[in-house]
Amino acid sequence: MLLDNHGRKINYLRLAVTDRCNLRCFYCMPEEGLNWLSRKELMTYEEMLQTCSLLVKMGIEKIRITGGEPFVRKDIMRFLTAVSQLPGLNELTITTNGVLTASYVPELKKIGIKSVNLSLDTLDANRFFSITGRDEFANVMQTLHELLKHDIEVKINAVVMDGKNTDDIIPLVQLTKDLPVSVRFIEEMPFNGDGHVYGGLKWDYIRILDEIKNVYGNIQKIPDMAFSTSYNYQIPNHKGSIGVIAAYSRTFCGTCNRIRITPEGGLKTCLYDAGVLNIKDLIRNGTTDSELEETLLKAFNNRARDGWEAENLRVEHNGVHESMATIGG
Ligand code: 5AD
Ligand code: SF4
Repeated sequence: MLLDNHGRKINYLRLAVTDRCNLRCFYCMPEEGLNWLSRKELMTYEEMLQTCSLLVKMGIEKIRITGGEPFVRKDIMRFLTAVSQLPGLNELTITTNGVLTASYVPELKKIGIKSVNLSLDTLDANRFFSITGRDEFANVMQTLHELLKHDIEVKINAVVMDGKNTDDIIPLVQLTKDLPVSVRFIEEMPFNGDGHVYGGLKWDYIRILDEIKNVYGNIQKIPDMAFSTSYNYQIPNHKGSIGVIAAYSRTFCGTCNRIRITPEGGLKTCLYDAGVLNIKDLIRNGTTDSELEETLLKAFNNRARDGWEAENLRVEHNGVHESMATIGG
């Protein structure tokens, strides 16, 4: 079992397989997109697989594949299939924007994917366009229904943005009436990729919950899974559930069980740190698995206590300049 220097169990890896995306959500990246990484800068599938295999031997039990958008990377099914076969891995999940995902759903089912996180901030096609810069709402909805049809659990991630989609909170809650989905409202974080000044959080998880209680009154707390980052609720007689994720307020750091690897191989032991080492560089410099294991253990033993400490340790203090597309959420 992997423990960090604060006694927290580490058993969850979030691996971002590309920085590229076919949407341009304004809270994630600039309109023109980022300076995409070149192929050489990306970890290869072989390097990622080697890393996953080592980490699973060390104690990682769950891997989530994120991006960018995972399905824009060529041959992604080949990689997902290989990861799904790693001995000792209990759970493989994916976070996707759903634009290209629908046609992959039967294959995802076949390799044992039981749960998918779908990023969807609005149920209105026009608002979808204004948030993401692309006219892909219908494809995302098709992915949602395809996943449900194949009995794959769906969690919808909706970032709540002042002046953009707060009118969508109630319709998204309403979606849980007939569909067995979990809609999770996420506080907006300062990872928009251009460092533009972040005006402070207008909609924290408490305000989001108040908005929902104003309409539904009787929302019921339901148990949160161990290590969950969401506080979960249900509206009586709804098939699905709702949750709030205090991604900015950082209320869940005390039980943080996760590490992240960026598309270029950066290891993050906190969402808010700037990267603590580069795994790809170590592998390309001929580091053996046992040396890599030792280096990783050292990093796990040097984790920031919480997201506030990690953010304060960053060099650029006038705002985080990263994009969520290079972090993977
Ligand atoms: N704040 C909060 N969540 C974000 N995501 C992307 N950028 C941000 C941000 N600035 C979310 C997406 C997706 C997940 C990978 O991260 O909605 O669901
Ligand atoms: Fe793409 Fe997700 Fe970023 Fe939107 S939030 S631009 S879907 S990576």
